[in-house]
Amino acid sequence: MAKILEKKIIRNPDVFYFKIDAPLISKKAQPGQFVILRIHDKGERIPISLADINPDEGTISLIVMAVGKTTTEMSMLKAGDNILDLCGPLGQPTHIEKIGKVILVGGGFGVAPLYPIGRAFKAAGNHVVTIMGARSNDLLIYEEEMNMVSDKVIITTDDGSKGIKGFVTKALEQELVENGAELVVTVGPAVMMRSVCKTTEPFSTKTIVSLNSIMIDGTGMCGGCRVYVKGETKFACVDGPDFDGHLVDWDVLMSRQKTYIDKEKESFDEWKKRHAGVLSE
Ligand SMILES: Cc1cc2nc3c(=O)[nH]c(=O)nc-3n(C[C@H](O)[C@H](O)[C@H](O)COP(=O)(O)OP(=O)(O)OC[C@H]3O[C@@H](n4cnc5c(N)ncnc54)[C@H](O)[C@@H]3O)c2cc1C
Ligand code: FES
Repeated sequence: MAKILEKKIIRNPDVFYFKIDAPLISKKAQPGQFVILRIHDKGERIPISLADINPDEGTISLIVMAVGKTTTEMSMLKAGDNILDLCGPLGQPTHIEKIGKVILVGGGFGVAPLYPIGRAFKAAGNHVVTIMGARSNDLLIYEEEMNMVSDKVIITTDDGSKGIKGFVTKALEQELVENGAELVVTVGPAVMMRSVCKTTEPFSTKTIVSLNSIMIDGTGMCGGCRVYVKGETKFACVDGPDFDGHLVDWDVLMSRQKTYIDKEKESFDEWKKRHAGVLSE
């Protein structure tokens, strides 16, 4: 069991911050890793990235976007509640080295795991530029945090309500043309990460992506998270989640992400029916 010490709404109504008492995980965890949690004994296990790691106080932070049954159930937990199982740290840490200039590109909840990654690149002596995007200004998260770990933050919104109007890839291309970079690290929806890779390819800029495949055990046993990288089968949970984005088979990743879409919808609809009263509060 792991106790929730703090909960905040990061973006109303769907993105939530949780600070969790997890002394053993926080002692070992590194940027880029994740946990798998199960809220109650009838619940499914879901992977969530580490949005912060605080070994001094024995805590980790998670940012959860309510998209389906389990993340909505998680969004209803409060400070003082317990998470039944919290397993981690899982996955390989992001490789951090002094390389020169690093551009971090984040979209959606993907901006949150970029925070500890950015802090580590900065501490290693790199020049860190963050490009973060959302559909509109009210959907942006973690701007203050990314400012703390970046030399420069560029914001893009699809509707132009803040920063540059357009996708993150427009700002990325401009930044690469004007200033170049040794490395790009991107976390977010697969479609965005694939576009980031297409943008960096002509510049031959190494691009690390964090693959959000379907995961079950998180230990390399079930094969649920398999992805194809440079023609080889890899397990995102133990070989990743970071991979060289120019070598990833994006079509296979995106088609595998849709494997259980009908079942997920059915389960969420059924849950919403049973919790109609709670949801309308
Ligand atoms: C390594 C890793 C790290 C992750 N880190 C985080 C994190 O830090 N925070 C977080 O909120 N989520 C994170 N995720 C995604 C999270 O695990 C899933 O969103 C979660 O499993 C959804 O469970 P659910 O039962 O609520 O929804 P499901 O019923 O499983 O999904 C409902 C539907 O929502 C859509 N969906 C699922 N995930 C997303 C998404 N991320 N964005 C948009 N639509 C989506 C799909 O169409 C899906 O069919 C991570 C995933 C991986 C693999
Ligand atoms: S989640 Fe089971 S092998 Fe990766």
